[in-house]
Amino acid sequence: MSDINQYSLTQAVKDTFQTEPGSRLETLLQGLIQHLHDYTREVNLNHEEWMAVLTFLYDCGKISTPERHEFILLSDVLGFSALVDMINTRGGATEGSNLGPFYLDDAPVKELGGDLSDGRDGVTVLVHGTVTDSLHNPLPGAIVDTWQADATGTYPIQEQDQGQDKFDLRGKFTADENGRYYYTTVLPKPYTVPYDGPVGDLLRAGNRHAWRAAHLHYIIRHPGMSSITTELFFENTEYIDNDAVFGVRKSLITKIVPVKNGDTLGYTLEKTPDAVCEYNFVLAPEG
Ligand code: BEZ
Ligand code: FE
Repeated sequence: MSDINQYSLTQAVKDTFQTEPGSRLETLLQGLIQHLHDYTREVNLNHEEWMAVLTFLYDCGKISTPERHEFILLSDVLGFSALVDMINTRGGATEGSNLGPFYLDDAPVKELGGDLSDGRDGVTVLVHGTVTDSLHNPLPGAIVDTWQADATGTYPIQEQDQGQDKFDLRGKFTADENGRYYYTTVLPKPYTVPYDGPVGDLLRAGNRHAWRAAHLHYIIRHPGMSSITTELFFENTEYIDNDAVFGVRKSLITKIVPVKNGDTLGYTLEKTPDAVCEYNFVLAPEG
């Protein structure tokens, strides 16, 4: 062990871990050590830089709370989250995209045709489509769990101290016997990821902006199928080509088409739409 140098050190560290041979933990740990050491040698990391990295991580921990997870934000702006989403998208299924920090698993159950805007101003858009498997078989009973920002780019959960209800602008719909879902809501606007912490410093150091393209969040579930976490974006809107967290995929960009004369496209709706947006979700089998 004393006859060690910057090259033999890597294997020596790997050998200290007595993980189950062939286990997932072994793969993850051995790869991490190898890549961390390779990176360190490659960039010739000095002591100041090493300490700056550790202090940065410490600062991320210090500012984190149950409502604000700075490490997730770090993962997002580094494209780490997007990479995990891409790797884990199942063949034939709708592409995955960011969960983000504002999901609540106990969103209110809403009726198909209901309105999600909770009285907020803006363009009322009918969002509709199907949930099917990759052979276009409808998945009746699929749960369409959605949440979003308003027309000023704010999530109600961020403004609870100003009297906003954290359950506004979110809900769970159940797809009908044909796998259809439909509801109206207010068209969201772009907003910035939190940039008053260490991740914001990183963005500034890299001359990067903090804006996300406007989007609707979804988790789609159905028994026996792999659930998907994804987002829908809107064609020709701001930041669609440079979303701060790399969430946009071509297949997730929808068109907002104006509707005339109170057309409801044959649906029974709580509110008359100004525009319509269609998207068909596809789930892959579990396993
Ligand atoms: C969001 O989409 O809500 C979000 C994603 C990443 C960071 C902050 C917010
Ligand atoms: Fe979001």
